[in-house]
Amino acid sequence: MSSSPHFLAIAVLLLLTPACSLSDFSDELFIQLLTRQHNIVRSGMHNVAPLTLNSTISTRAQRWSDELNRLPRSGMCIFHSGQGGENIYYHWSTQTVSEQWLAEKAVVAFYEEIKQYNYNLPGFKISTAHFTQMVWMATTQMGVGISRRRVKINHSGCGLKQRYDANLYFVVVQYEPHGNIIFQDNFKKNVTKPLRSVDEFLKKFTS
Ligand SMILES: *[C@@H]1O[C@H](CO)[C@@H](O)[C@H](O)[C@H]1NC(C)=O
Ligand SMILES: *[C@@H]1O[C@H](CO)[C@@H](O)[C@H](O)[C@H]1NC(C)=O
Ligand SMILES: *[C@@H]1O[C@H](CO)[C@@H](O)[C@H](O)[C@H]1NC(C)=O
Repeated sequence: MSSSPHFLAIAVLLLLTPACSLSDFSDELFIQLLTRQHNIVRSGMHNVAPLTLNSTISTRAQRWSDELNRLPRSGMCIFHSGQGGENIYYHWSTQTVSEQWLAEKAVVAFYEEIKQYNYNLPGFKISTAHFTQMVWMATTQMGVGISRRRVKINHSGCGLKQRYDANLYFVVVQYEPHGNIIFQDNFKKNVTKPLRSVDEFLKKFTS
């Protein structure tokens, strides 16, 4: 019995430590901004209907981002949940990042794949799969999971070994109905051409 207050103190400390360092980040705001960025690309660049945020899909995406974030990090291994349409993005940084910054980074990472997409030979390719799912015309809903924690990252380079405290962010976006399925012949209609210069569009994000 006498040891229980002590135990409690440790438990509280452990719970508070990771939360404090990342506490400025609002998951809800991030999810809203990520959805908005998706729709800026969809409506503004590809003339396809915006996606609506679905909380059931978000709950499922959240479970998967928590799962990924629990894995030991020896190299960054990312696995798909096996659930229909899914884009995953991770970022680690020794600094905390804003919701807006992370939302833009994720969407730009997905969207930049358009540069590899061949409109004369539409079809599935791993290297353009994030892009084609994001702008897939027949997709109507999305859900977002975001998971973040403090990690220790070992870095060795130039004969130096350093150990960083870093923030690791895992973003999982799931889409319904699932788009860009391999071997399906719907790419020509579902992946529309950009209305404007992609380079001009992306320039706004590289400041
Ligand atoms: C949200 O997604 C779930 C899971 O696919 C689906 O059953 C539900 O109908 C969707 N909700 C709306 C409002 O479309
Ligand atoms: C990182 O370095 C520390 C100390 O040098 C070591 O104890 C730890 O196992 C290393 N972690 C990884 C993931 O390599
Ligand atoms: C777009 O793809 C869906 C499957 O995701 C397909 O059912 C639909 O017919 C395609 N749309 C067009 C206009 O071809």
